Amino acid sequence: MQPDVTEARRIEAAPAIAKGPDLTVIAPTFNERENVEPLIAKLAAALDGVHWEVIFVDDDSHDGTAARVREVARRDSRVRCVQRLGRRGLTSACAEAVLASSASYVAIIDADLQHDETLLPRMLELLRREPETDVVIGSRYTEKSLSEGFTRVRQAMSYIATRLAQTILRAKLSDPVSGFFMAKREVFEGSIRSLSGIGNKILVDVFASSPRPLKFKELAYQFKARLHGESKLDTLTVWEYLVLLADKSLGRIVPVRFLLFSLVGFSGVLVHLGVLRAALVATPLSFATSQALATLVAAVSNFFLNNWLTYRDKRLTGWQVIPGLITFLLACSVGAVVNVAFAETVFELTELWWLAGIAGAAVSAVLNYATTSIFTWRKR
Ligand code: GDD
Ligand code: MN
Repeated sequence: MQPDVTEARRIEAAPAIAKGPDLTVIAPTFNERENVEPLIAKLAAALDGVHWEVIFVDDDSHDGTAARVREVARRDSRVRCVQRLGRRGLTSACAEAVLASSASYVAIIDADLQHDETLLPRMLELLRREPETDVVIGSRYTEKSLSEGFTRVRQAMSYIATRLAQTILRAKLSDPVSGFFMAKREVFEGSIRSLSGIGNKILVDVFASSPRPLKFKELAYQFKARLHGESKLDTLTVWEYLVLLADKSLGRIVPVRFLLFSLVGFSGVLVHLGVLRAALVATPLSFATSQALATLVAAVSNFFLNNWLTYRDKRLTGWQVIPGLITFLLACSVGAVVNVAFAETVFELTELWWLAGIAGAAVSAVLNYATTSIFTWRKR
């Protein structure tokens, strides 16, 4: 008899099923361990009275951020952790966290406390009150604050970046690169399958990928200084931003990765000629040896440029570089053989040397792109 009674008690004591949160706050993290608890405390204070949760989406930080989040999550059910392996990128990270949430409203905020979480209740209220508003954006810039504390060059760059985005998005966002905003769940659902996922500018990506123009409101805030950890966004952030914009405009015609791969290929021709000339002028090497050297240097340079620019999101690091370089060189050698054979055929048919040359180069570009995307920068 005894065990039955305890069993009955245990069932009775189980908590009633509670409904899910109305608001999911997504905080992307990469090495932000010391910011986890302060952020949760700030969210709890700001969102008093709201049924909310926070999802930390961590790209396998080596400082133990995910472990810290789970430690807190064990005693606080408002806290959740999504940990991604072998991938990087703020936009794709946030997209996965959106898919893990079921709330009607979703906000994105940096985990490093630089954004002003006290805006969240106002964002939520605006979205709830105004059925026509899709997104509320935290903006660092109202017209004049733009100039404060920025050098002229940064001002100009920031201006160009903003105008470029405004043209492509056909929306007059004052701070399109903002990483702080709240949207209705349908907004994300509409965009998510078309997101580029390139780089860190998720707001630009969401706007450019939306099947319909989005209605937005902006709330000004002061971007705060970082207390713990350091920024992950390096000089190539600007590059990724331009690639994202290219993908969202030209990308409808040609895949932007292929464009980049071809651009790197062109740079290889210049490297080749430079090395060939240097070897002929400055060393006693024969023409054939110089040509072989130039070919090798250009191929290696192409590999590193592609690894750095074209496949930034999947870039090979440490020891992975060795098999990467070997498969790249092998794939390109096959490409070169096909290039010559194809060009020869076209030349026999048309007797146009330039058409044959371009055709050979184009075929090997497509082939090299295809094979290296499978063998060198394979999907993990
Ligand atoms: N999961 C994941 N993966 N998170 C990342 C990654 C990544 O690859 N890179 C950065 N993060 C996280 C950081 O841990 C931080 O919480 C947040 O994304 C922003 O990164 P920072 O490195 O602090 O960026 P920032 O301060 O230079 O720039 C931020 O503010 C700008 C202005 O609002 C970002 O939000 C930019 O997108 C934004 O333009
Ligand atoms: Mn930051």
